[in-house]
Amino acid sequence: MNPTPNNQPAVVTSSHELGLDLAAIAARYLFETDHLHYGLWTEDLPVHMKNLHKAQEQYSDLIVSTIPDGTKTILDVGTGTGALARRLMDAGYSVDCVSPSPYLTERARANVGTDAQIFECKFEDLVTDKRYDLILFSESFQYIPLNRSLVLSQEYLNTGGHVLICDYFRNDTPDKGPFGGGHHLKDFRKELESSALTPLLDRDITPLTAPNLDLVADMNDKVVAPMKAQLFAFARVKYPFWFKLTTSIFKKPLAHFDTKYMGGKRSGKNFQVYKSYRLLLFAKGTQGKLAGPEMVAD
Ligand SMILES: C[S@@+](CC[C@H](N)C(=O)[O-])C[C@H]1O[C@@H](n2cnc3c(N)ncnc32)[C@H](O)[C@@H]1O
Repeated sequence: MNPTPNNQPAVVTSSHELGLDLAAIAARYLFETDHLHYGLWTEDLPVHMKNLHKAQEQYSDLIVSTIPDGTKTILDVGTGTGALARRLMDAGYSVDCVSPSPYLTERARANVGTDAQIFECKFEDLVTDKRYDLILFSESFQYIPLNRSLVLSQEYLNTGGHVLICDYFRNDTPDKGPFGGGHHLKDFRKELESSALTPLLDRDITPLTAPNLDLVADMNDKVVAPMKAQLFAFARVKYPFWFKLTTSIFKKPLAHFDTKYMGGKRSGKNFQVYKSYRLLLFAKGTQGKLAGPEMVAD
């Protein structure tokens, strides 16, 4: 980890980044996984925490199988812990990574070694003369401003290169429900129109990713909520003054936490109402379109 001058870990300043760092720490210890994506829950895979790793491997398989023939070099934008980048390197691709989080960068470095260059910055702040055959966004597209991601992708692509996005977007619903994250799908499509990218593949994988939300909701109900109840009951009796003070100071965030994460509102079913998780492939320029059953139009 990059130490600050007083030898403390470099501090993240965005709550998104903090959330991802914490998720990566917990996921590795509790579920023995390095991936930070939702995974792909095919019908034959029971929705259980013990299968999370398998679901995530299936997702990685999907990414690898979508990479166009002829691709040699990949820029993995928002590499997380570098687990997918490692997988791509093992498959023979030459991979560089973009990682704005000091904690995740350290994990990624351990995974990809010195063969991959890690750009320690946001994608929108990247400065490099390097060009790639594929720009990959695996559940990272949502964090990058829409008006920058496609423009920059085209800039960093070789002629004939491709952009692969696997991420969720917001549906056109009156409210955002209990979920944050994701660009509006309609804004994304509008942005695409002004790009020189040709859509080759647009596959809706929402039903195959949504079970991840059921898993997390189940864990919240069965682990987080009872732990919180026990802790609060203990503190109320043991430290009544401090309990009253802190719960009144943090009344709003505590209520927000309960509304958002407890009570099962963040379910897979609701995810499918508010979000659209898509596997998207684009070619730089105006090459011929890939016809076939995978080409889905809404
Ligand atoms: C949900 S994780 C996905 C990690 C990994 N790609 C995967 O599939 O497991 C999101 C990643 O996006 C990165 N990220 C967030 N904002 C970013 C930005 N502006 N530019 C590049 N990466 C960003 C985070 O640091 C994190 O690595």
